[in-house]
Amino acid sequence: MQRTLVLIKPDGVARRLVGKIIARFEEKGLWILGMKHMAMSQEIADRHYAEHKEKPFFGDLCSFMTSSPLVALVLEGPESIALVRKLVGATKVAEAAPGTIRGDFALSTQQNLIHASDSPESAEREIAIWFGDSELADYKPCDGAWVN
Ligand code: TYD
Ligand code: MG
Repeated sequence: MQRTLVLIKPDGVARRLVGKIIARFEEKGLWILGMKHMAMSQEIADRHYAEHKEKPFFGDLCSFMTSSPLVALVLEGPESIALVRKLVGATKVAEAAPGTIRGDFALSTQQNLIHASDSPESAEREIAIWFGDSELADYKPCDGAWVN
């Protein structure tokens, strides 16, 4: 079982797509271990997007991400890191396939609705930025309860 960090970015909240996006993950069978609605401070943005600090889009990305509240989630399920990335779709607007969240709902590479961890190392690092251990549920699902 794997945990991954998902952010429903400010555009997802502003467009009132939070329920629809969470439904995609729930319908797939993933479990919500943690969830909060909050603003991303510049300090959190610097930590969360540390790998992009030197990129030309970093400043604009941080301005957007800190502009209004977002929803942070920790999801759990088998191979959830790769799985969630697949459900979310490609980063570039024209490459996100129909059927993915970005492919169906986003028309911008920056305002692309979702962040999702891209490796076990990022997931561990990012979850620790957004959630304390006591904020994460400790599910013990019954046999076969992971899907439906
Ligand atoms: P990245 O980690 O490459 O994408 P992903 O979110 O799919 O993991 O980039 C982080 C965010 O930076 C991305 O979601 C949107 C923004 N971004 C741009 O604004 N322009 C770009 O050219 C790229 C690559 C990303
Ligand atoms: Mg990324």
